[in-house]
Amino acid sequence: MTSYIGTATSRIDGRAKVTGAAKYAAEVTAPGLVYGFVVTSTIAKGRIAGIEASEALRVAGVLDVLTHENRPSMARATEAYRDETAPEQGEPFRPLYDDRIHFNRQPVALVVAEDWETARFAAALVRVEYRQEAHATDLRAERARAVTLEKPVKPRGDAAKAFADAPIRHAAEYVTPVEHHNPMELFGATAVWTGDGTLTLYDKTQGVQNVQRYLAAVFEMKPEQVRVLSPFTGGAFGSGLRPQYEAVLAGLAARKLKRPVRLVLTRQQMYALGYRPATIERLELGAKADGTLEAVTHEAIAVTSRFEDFSRTDTAWSGLLYISPHARYLHKLARVDLPTPCDMRAPGAATGVYALECAMDELAVALKVDPLELRLKCYSERDQNAGVPYTSKALRECYRQGAEAFGWAKRQPEPRAMREGGELVGWGMASGVWEALQMPFGARIVLGANGHAEVASAASDIGTGTYTIMAQVAADMLGLPLDNVTVKLGDSTLPHAMVEGGSWTAASVSHAIARTSDEIRQELLRLAKAVPGSPLAEARLEQVALREGRIVTTEDPRRGVSIADAMRHGKLDRIEREATMAFAEDPSHARNTHSAVFAEVKVDEQLGVIRVTRIVSAIAAGRILNHKTAASQIMGGAVWGIGMALHEETLIDHAFGRVMNPDVAEYHMPVNADVHDIKVIFVDEPDALVNPLGIKGVGEIGIVGTAAAIANAVYHATGKRVRDLPITLDKLMG
Ligand code: MOS
Repeated sequence: MTSYIGTATSRIDGRAKVTGAAKYAAEVTAPGLVYGFVVTSTIAKGRIAGIEASEALRVAGVLDVLTHENRPSMARATEAYRDETAPEQGEPFRPLYDDRIHFNRQPVALVVAEDWETARFAAALVRVEYRQEAHATDLRAERARAVTLEKPVKPRGDAAKAFADAPIRHAAEYVTPVEHHNPMELFGATAVWTGDGTLTLYDKTQGVQNVQRYLAAVFEMKPEQVRVLSPFTGGAFGSGLRPQYEAVLAGLAARKLKRPVRLVLTRQQMYALGYRPATIERLELGAKADGTLEAVTHEAIAVTSRFEDFSRTDTAWSGLLYISPHARYLHKLARVDLPTPCDMRAPGAATGVYALECAMDELAVALKVDPLELRLKCYSERDQNAGVPYTSKALRECYRQGAEAFGWAKRQPEPRAMREGGELVGWGMASGVWEALQMPFGARIVLGANGHAEVASAASDIGTGTYTIMAQVAADMLGLPLDNVTVKLGDSTLPHAMVEGGSWTAASVSHAIARTSDEIRQELLRLAKAVPGSPLAEARLEQVALREGRIVTTEDPRRGVSIADAMRHGKLDRIEREATMAFAEDPSHARNTHSAVFAEVKVDEQLGVIRVTRIVSAIAAGRILNHKTAASQIMGGAVWGIGMALHEETLIDHAFGRVMNPDVAEYHMPVNADVHDIKVIFVDEPDALVNPLGIKGVGEIGIVGTAAAIANAVYHATGKRVRDLPITLDKLMG
């Protein structure tokens, strides 16, 4: 029936991207384009006492310096700044709004000039006086003042007592640092005001309609007066879920100057957007001597800003993943003088499951059982937090296929038992879990009599492959060759789409396309019935399908009418349909993706240098739409897991409350030399319950568990347990 879904189709936008034909937000040009450069604060907290811009304004080519004192009007109510992904608690940041400084590198002025170099030079001449106030940015110093969030997930049993009574116990704290996203594409926007009072803004974002509504509220316009486009996005990983300040500032400047404005943030300035919050995670695991869990307690303390409470689920995975009669969770927030954290690939799970899966490894050591065997002993067929079964859960198969591909059976259990020359060899494993979400999305399909279809939705493709899977689904549903399908996305005027987040886009947009295709099929059947001598005269909708440019009976695909004939007789040259797919809430089942990650490290015994020589990531994520782009997602997540385990850490000088390593030279990420053999396995996981097409999404699951598998491998290699990430040489040798 299907011919493209489930194949390893190459990206349909690949050529445009590698040839530069794909234009990013700050590559768009317009007649009379001028350039902005942001001036940012040098203190973490206080007020602006004065801004002296006269020297900057004297530079030839400088057009204006916008500050909170002279900018065009924007909404006063903080409510107007609350986009669809904003934290519920708190007041969103309002760029260039008033004299308050909330964090270091906050935008305080925008210089606009005829060219970018002039704007950047003049920005260095803007003098800002501050009235500084005391700040705090250190999670460890602020933990005592952390506030407790309302319990997100109900406890069960009496975990404190069960832990105290358990014969085998493990308790420890795991620490994860602030991390930054560092997508290839810098945040940038090009804003164009037209004479009739409408704003067109190209932006780097994961959600054009989210930015559209946000800007309309901020600029006090009607949503239809604002059009936001982001046809191509050079990575984002969650940093583009909330509208960022480049969109507001570009819009403000264009409004004031009546000229198109391009604004690109520097890499350094991007370290004052969102980030993955630093966490301290405390795990208490109590087990019986047979290796079954009795009690799980997971407490997390995470940083947030002073002005918004950002939090994600760090803790509840712990009692979800494994059978344990007693479970308890606690989540605290330490408010500090930093920007509000934001989502970063598998927010909450990347950090929380890291802690859980290292703790499980330590429990396995205490129990003297194989770490994989411990997971199997504690395997849960049900979501224990909600007390319901899963729509599907093929994690057992992930463990089996992953272990086999890795060669886990040959592992020698004792640390430091495996070596190769001067290197200690370590093998570690971990489980991963993420949500299978789906959101209401719309799609429009225009089918021409020539058998070409255009499928459109306001969805985003942040490098994940959305263009390609949209084309695959449409081609299969409409019975057309892939080359006959054109995809449009990343434009707020297109049918409804939520931000590209939570790994929900593939499932959501695919069902929107399927539903819209059903309506196209219905119209084609109506037309085909009217064709003289139609073999479909008596056919009902559920008896026909679209195949190879024809509408045919499913019983006998030779019986049918070509699309061209049906349309010609109906005197139509195109059929256009638009539909939205919304999913009913169904609390009867849990919807999750799972993974089993196996990692090999080689550690230089003299120098402590760690290499991750092999990763096997076995994934259970329902139906895989495209094995090539999906495997790339998992591989990207696995590479990030290497970074999380060994490299990545945003270093803050707490005396200044300022990031010290805000660039890709000093913020260490895995490079080619750090990445060796990564094998991705998708296990079969048919799922008729999660949604009609059985799609779960793969954007985030690849990172979950990977850092823990590597940390556990480092322990196995060296016998040394480093619990605070990243595992750097000084910690390993110290
Ligand atoms: Mo993802 S962190 O929801 O972009």
